[in-house]
Amino acid sequence: MNTTVTDDMAADYREQLADELAAAGLLNDPAWRRAWQSVPRHLFAPRFAISAPGQPGPAAASWYDGSDPAERPRWLAAAYRNEALITRYADNGVAISSSTEPALMAHMLGLLDVHDGHKVLEIGTGTGYNAALLAHRLGPDNVTTIDVDPRLTQAAKEVLDDAGFPVTVLTGNGARRAAERAPFDRIIATCGVDRIPAAWIQQLAPGGLIVANVSRGLVALRRGNGDMVSGQFCGQAGFMALHTEGELPTSTSGRVFEVTGGVAERQYDADLPGSLDFTVASFLASLIAERSQLMFVHREDGTVVDYRWWHPASNSWVRVEPRSGGPARVHETGIRHLWAKIDPILADWDNAGRPGIDQFGLTITPQHYTLWVGSPSNGRSPAPSILTGALPLPFDGLDDHQSRPARACCSEAACCAEQTRALRRQNAHKHP
Ligand SMILES: C[S@@+](CC[C@H](N)C(=O)[O-])C[C@H]1O[C@@H](n2cnc3c(N)ncnc32)[C@H](O)[C@@H]1O
Repeated sequence: MNTTVTDDMAADYREQLADELAAAGLLNDPAWRRAWQSVPRHLFAPRFAISAPGQPGPAAASWYDGSDPAERPRWLAAAYRNEALITRYADNGVAISSSTEPALMAHMLGLLDVHDGHKVLEIGTGTGYNAALLAHRLGPDNVTTIDVDPRLTQAAKEVLDDAGFPVTVLTGNGARRAAERAPFDRIIATCGVDRIPAAWIQQLAPGGLIVANVSRGLVALRRGNGDMVSGQFCGQAGFMALHTEGELPTSTSGRVFEVTGGVAERQYDADLPGSLDFTVASFLASLIAERSQLMFVHREDGTVVDYRWWHPASNSWVRVEPRSGGPARVHETGIRHLWAKIDPILADWDNAGRPGIDQFGLTITPQHYTLWVGSPSNGRSPAPSILTGALPLPFDGLDDHQSRPARACCSEAACCAEQTRALRRQNAHKHP
């Protein structure tokens, strides 16, 4: 077997990946195409795993190691697949760093709408590959990237420097840190949040853009007057959740079923919009109750047995059992009356023609956090046309997520894969 890996082979794989992204309508700017053709992804992922479908843990994943000569051709080919390359798992088996799926990266970089001379902050350095693409497009002096994990920033900095992209790499909590290089024209977050941290808005230049994964959506928020940012959701994503220095992301999917399975403190009947859209419902749930998780149980034929929603921070949960020909039965426990929060929002969503995530937008001011449908003027509180019971958030302030447990669903590679596959499908007709 020939185990030689050459620069030409790597260049061919990059060309193929760029072609794939272009065919999906994700590389319309020639400058971005040149970046994808030039930046060597394999150098940023010397060893990685690709998750098995539906099995997020490291045991079921396929592993690729470029340090083993016999493995190198297989590793090189895999490094240029349109897949998330997982580069770090926590001891509990939860994936905590990766090189994001290229289609999702290209979509986000397109949304970022960069122009020559723009200064960009990336939250979530990971392998450094996205920072290198940004550096190729804008020049390394214009790129700052931050990651909470010092082992990652050290490794990324070395590869970035060696590969000729000496961007500024910082270590710390990107939700808090006011980088000394602010203000930025663009901020891109490659870890997921349910709320936009105030520091991001404060570090953004007037007219600047934030592109981030909020709840289950991707949003592009432009800074308008003062500290106001506003913009539309454009696709779905399920990034690893932003977490703090000492906090280990955990998986709570199994716990949701355990916690929500018991006898509840309160029981009552409620009307449920027919055939609830689970993606939209879980998108709304995480916006309403940060770091909460909504799941559902179904029979083999797909019929829903119940919806289960757990908010770990308040240890509140609800289990809702749809019943044919009558109202659903609600079982609810805890200080947060979860169903009372989402019930009117789901009714508004139903009345508004059941919009998908892309039809929502966010407007954030220091006082209000408003989710709207259609156009931002709808969201001016207390405009009558507000869908979703417009947030000022029912539960808490804007910037207190640092103390919360991780949002488990999107810490999981399976979730990421599921979300990015959905995104790919969406891109197929969004960018013909
Ligand atoms: C999907 S990876 C980022 C991928 C990266 N952009 C790349 O090109 O390889 C998510 C990253 O977010 C980082 N992260 C999580 N919480 C963070 C925080 N509070 N501040 C900065 N980075 C954080 C993780 O350590 C992880 O490396």
